[in-house]
Amino acid sequence: MSTSVYSRYRAAFAQALATALGVPAADIEAQVKPAEPAHGDLSFATFPLAKAQKKAPPAIAAGLAQSLSVPGLEIKAVGPYVNARFPTLPFTAEVIDAARGAGIRYGGDEDAGRGKTVAIDYSSPNIAKPIGFHHIRTTFLGHCIANIYRALGWRVEGINYLGDWGKQFGLVAVGFQEYGDPARIDDMGHLVEVYVKANKRAEAEPEFDEKARAFFRRMEAGDAEALKLWNQFRDTSIKGFKKIYARMGIEFEHIEGESRYQGKMDAVIDQIAKKPGVKESQGALIVDLPYAENEPPILLKKNDGSTLYATRDLAAAQDRYERFQFDKSLYVVAQDQALHFRQVFRTLKEMDLPWADRAVHVAFGRIHGMSTRKGQVVQLNDVLDEARERVSVKVRENVEAGRIQTDDADALSEQIALGAIAFGDLKHKRASDYTFDWDEVLSFEGHTGPYLQYAHARAVNVLRKGGGAPASYDAALLTLPEEQALLREIMRLPEVVRDAAEQYEPSLVARLLLDVASALSRYYTLGNQERDKRINVEGNDALRSARLALIDAARVTLAAGLTLLGIPTPDNM
Ligand code: ARG
Repeated sequence: MSTSVYSRYRAAFAQALATALGVPAADIEAQVKPAEPAHGDLSFATFPLAKAQKKAPPAIAAGLAQSLSVPGLEIKAVGPYVNARFPTLPFTAEVIDAARGAGIRYGGDEDAGRGKTVAIDYSSPNIAKPIGFHHIRTTFLGHCIANIYRALGWRVEGINYLGDWGKQFGLVAVGFQEYGDPARIDDMGHLVEVYVKANKRAEAEPEFDEKARAFFRRMEAGDAEALKLWNQFRDTSIKGFKKIYARMGIEFEHIEGESRYQGKMDAVIDQIAKKPGVKESQGALIVDLPYAENEPPILLKKNDGSTLYATRDLAAAQDRYERFQFDKSLYVVAQDQALHFRQVFRTLKEMDLPWADRAVHVAFGRIHGMSTRKGQVVQLNDVLDEARERVSVKVRENVEAGRIQTDDADALSEQIALGAIAFGDLKHKRASDYTFDWDEVLSFEGHTGPYLQYAHARAVNVLRKGGGAPASYDAALLTLPEEQALLREIMRLPEVVRDAAEQYEPSLVARLLLDVASALSRYYTLGNQERDKRINVEGNDALRSARLALIDAARVTLAAGLTLLGIPTPDNM
């Protein structure tokens, strides 16, 4: 298994401590923590040993520090702690070479998930309905989580589980007769308009609503004519969605939907009937389980016989296991659906499916305040279009002022817009709600996508000015505190990617990239005051090469991390 520079040293330090203490290394590893930066890189606290050894912690630390020797680490006692520091060599060269050697794959580890499979349900918009804010978040989060698992060597089965079955098609269908323009049946925006009108009318007019339900019943009964119309709506929507995904660089392994389970639900219901059982309740069919006082029961069929969201998810979960034999099955869906997933997962468990506990609801919070000049957001495309419009004003200004060289300002604006919206979302912890602000996400400074894209482009530019990234360099020359600080940020990417996978938390990667960019910027700033601290220092080729190698490692880290987040990395901006 390929290990990162950091984890290799941490393991070696833990092993040496364990040998000295006569305990298994695994017991020690978890107790090796990052040190206070002023005191080293790794730290082991001796307090827990005091009782058994009947000695004061500082004395224990001093004794241990004296007896330990680990190649590549400087070990010393600091009060009750045994600390280890990465000296300039070999650490500096190891970090730079790890990043540059891996290139765009830096941070990943193809061996980590070898032989394992994760199913990831993400994006999953509803056909012929306006897209909600939650679809924006699930699309960015799911794409990033899929990228991270792929980078860790997992087989990823990304599933876009379209909401393509249900009463809303009845609404679009009966609405289309009144408000639809047959010539525009292949225009997704038009279908959404029809749906919105039909939905309003159904709320006010019970007969209209009943017509829509009747249409959906025809669909469930397999009526060819109804299904033909539904299929047309579905094709139109999928074509529309595909354009957005192409724009975002997203490819799903599977685009399918709830309709896949039409006709397969009775089999699942039969299975549930065996264990844990089903029963009738007010004419509907529910899973027979003890429910908490105010908990709504798990509905499998309505009193008119039609199936539900939960019924289809139960069928889909099994179908996914049969097809993929997943080790994990993730559902990147809004926190609002927590009860739904708790109930679905509970039912799977009660059915005694041995893989039931592999299912995870990767829940996320809400976006507040996202609207465009046109008003409320209806499609993700509207948000990206407006971002591009706003960005292109800035890009043109910069091109005219000679600050940006590009022969395709439109393409660049699109890349920056995408980076801005994606990062504006991914930098937030997924569980928290956030308020969207155009000026904030589009700013070229601060904690933004454009700022990181700029940091990357600037590194590219510095390398270009220095005559390119050097093939060989002398790492011993990189002794400035700012150089060593930057290295320590670059070093973290593999650990952070692993944590992000374990916690389904892309914001960890986003935050690390901000730390890399600010360490990089502090390093550049030195050269403003002191000429001999410039990256492209004059009259000292050896030093310049060493510095360029470090910049190259930082560039790789930014490029690899942004790519995991699904953010483009233009070379010029
Ligand atoms: N289409 C649903 C919605 O828009 C999300 C589907 C999530 N995935 C699932 N397996 N239920 O709310």
